[in-house]
Amino acid sequence: MSTQAPRPMPRRQWLAACAGAALLPVARAAVAQPQITLRFSHVVAEETPKGLAANRFKVLVEQRSGGRIGVQVFPNAQLYGDADEMQALQLGAVDLVAPSLSKFGRIGLPEFELFDLPFLFDDLAAVRRITLGPLGQRLLQGLERHGLVGLGYFDNGFKQMSANRALLAPQDFVGLRMRVQASQVIAAQMRALGARPVTLAFSETRLALATGVVNGTENPVSNFWTQAMHQVQTDLSLTNHGYLGYAVVTNQRLWHYLGMEDRALINQALQEALGFANQIADAQNDNALAALRQAGTTRVHTLSTVQREHLRQAVQPVQQQLASRLGKRWLQDLHNALHNG
Ligand code: LMR
Repeated sequence: MSTQAPRPMPRRQWLAACAGAALLPVARAAVAQPQITLRFSHVVAEETPKGLAANRFKVLVEQRSGGRIGVQVFPNAQLYGDADEMQALQLGAVDLVAPSLSKFGRIGLPEFELFDLPFLFDDLAAVRRITLGPLGQRLLQGLERHGLVGLGYFDNGFKQMSANRALLAPQDFVGLRMRVQASQVIAAQMRALGARPVTLAFSETRLALATGVVNGTENPVSNFWTQAMHQVQTDLSLTNHGYLGYAVVTNQRLWHYLGMEDRALINQALQEALGFANQIADAQNDNALAALRQAGTTRVHTLSTVQREHLRQAVQPVQQQLASRLGKRWLQDLHNALHNG
């Protein structure tokens, strides 16, 4: 959060001024300069569900505050990437991030890697039983131990596998170096397929594929396409083997110092932006797949039911292998939420 005051004003005095301004019954005339600016940092392209959600959030907040609250969006890891975005948030260098749920294990919240269990969710309705239910809220509450506030979840979609060979059966993965997010569950998934997981930041993945540091990776098609991975991957298999979603996170200092009215305005705008993202995420991935087919650079493989079942069986041991990391109570609650409604 940055101030636009002509001279530095002590933060507490400035926050009091903002809070006071928020309470003044003045007309919400558009103001030339925002009195508070929220910095929203993320690692993907703008033309993705997350990029579009961040931009929608910006528009809604600035419109509804009459410009009193500004939002600066920094896409494509311009400011911070996988390795430092969460720390930057904790230090107050940025005000909002929206990491993949796979990236919370690395800050001491391994239970978030529940979402990474392969073949866990049959569809997005199953995901909503977690993210919109008590389990999802309990997961977000864990962020408070780290000085953070989880504000909500939203989708990218289901992940596909890519490499420079067709990945249709477990044996096709043997020996491949596969880029993964920083998730022990995803690493175990790749090892179960006979591949070697290589954890890399998202922003480094395209170059690592181009230079042969890694042979393949996994992601929803919108990320695969917008990072031009199709130029360096000859094959994409539509495995739908796992889910990629996000949580929007802010830091407690900011959240607790905002006036009630500003907090409500920001939260309402965010919830609407997340709903918008969920509405367009499927279309974003479908459009990316259509563009990929049109580009003709990459063979797109649809797996048969039998082929997909063989993949599922190969990675089935992952849950047991990671049960102690994920937590038996979390696993029980997850399966209850998924199968007992
Ligand atoms: C990845 O690192 O592959 C994804 O989490 C990137 C993203 O934020 O969608």
